[in-house]
Amino acid sequence: EKAGYKHFMAKEIAEQPVVLADALRHYVQNGRINLPDVDFTGVDRVTLVACGTASYACHVAKYWFEQIAGLPADVDIASEFRYREPVLSPTSWAVFVSQSGETADTLAALRHAGDAVARTLAVVNVPTSSIAREADLALPILAGIEVGVASTKAFTCQLTVLALLALKAAHDRGRIDAAELGRRLDALATLPGLMNHALRLADDIRDLAGELAEAQDILFLGRGPMFPLALEGALKLKEISYIHAEGYASGELKHGPIALIDNRVPVIVMAPRDALFDKTVSNMQEVMARHGKVLLISDARGIEEAGAGCWRTLALPQVADFLAPILYAVPAQLLAYHTAIAKGTDVDQPRNLAKSVTVE
Ligand code: M6R
Repeated sequence: EKAGYKHFMAKEIAEQPVVLADALRHYVQNGRINLPDVDFTGVDRVTLVACGTASYACHVAKYWFEQIAGLPADVDIASEFRYREPVLSPTSWAVFVSQSGETADTLAALRHAGDAVARTLAVVNVPTSSIAREADLALPILAGIEVGVASTKAFTCQLTVLALLALKAAHDRGRIDAAELGRRLDALATLPGLMNHALRLADDIRDLAGELAEAQDILFLGRGPMFPLALEGALKLKEISYIHAEGYASGELKHGPIALIDNRVPVIVMAPRDALFDKTVSNMQEVMARHGKVLLISDARGIEEAGAGCWRTLALPQVADFLAPILYAVPAQLLAYHTAIAKGTDVDQPRNLAKSVTVE
């Protein structure tokens, strides 16, 4: 069933262009978003709740809902949401994101939100799951079965469905017109092809993974919607390679983590050449001034402008700014995978972890 791949994780990373295209075919038809049961008119807040990787997808979606749709969005980790007595409004929607649809904390959070919000939505991979059945509306991510404990294709498909929800909200609320919506959907349609390009970085990543595998600590940095990607890159790496890794918003560096930097600490900077690029680069230079080993992941222009002096660089194709988190997930996954292979860990079944966490 691994279709010639050594691990399910490798197969699932490689499948992303195909499953993403499937999801887009399902949700975008004739240049329109096919979400007939979704209308954000009158909705004044969205609360996004999930665990682990799914919570990082929610974190990216918060940027999209606020920047593109002008709709206030909160993100909560399910285990916190269910106990912190969140103030929910009857004019808000709550969105629960879960690959398995069975995560105990996310299910309990859905039950907790219950009637306190206008509507509950589930963004799930398993359409027959508890979360899918109990939410008012279930939106499948269409990633196909994900076996590897490290979530990969489910993450990018979750992001794709959440991007479409944010675009729908933006259009319903009159924040973007039909032409702008069309441009954004056209950009989404290019993602499967761009992901194929990103997958070709595998050889370069395998080359540098040997050195990463020697590290005790690794930092991931990103700004804006790339901040949750830094968190995701760190989670992926620690769960399968057992190397201590942290994701930080690059602006937070000088508020503490910069104390960790020396020539043994690889710092992975995820920075597409967007409006925040210069800010992130100046944080990256602070790392380099302290002899941190920087791996810059950007596009050709970003690397030309800022790659000098980096330990390594990886160039992704140019992508519409709002979609960079989906594309940049691919090198983050490949880095974790190849570093784990270099360490010889059990990639598909990492120690202490279960694919679906059905206990609190
Ligand atoms: O099935 P779910 O999406 O609800 O699972 C949530 C987390 O347990 C999951 O994303 C976990 O963090 C992954 N192992 C990350 O790769």
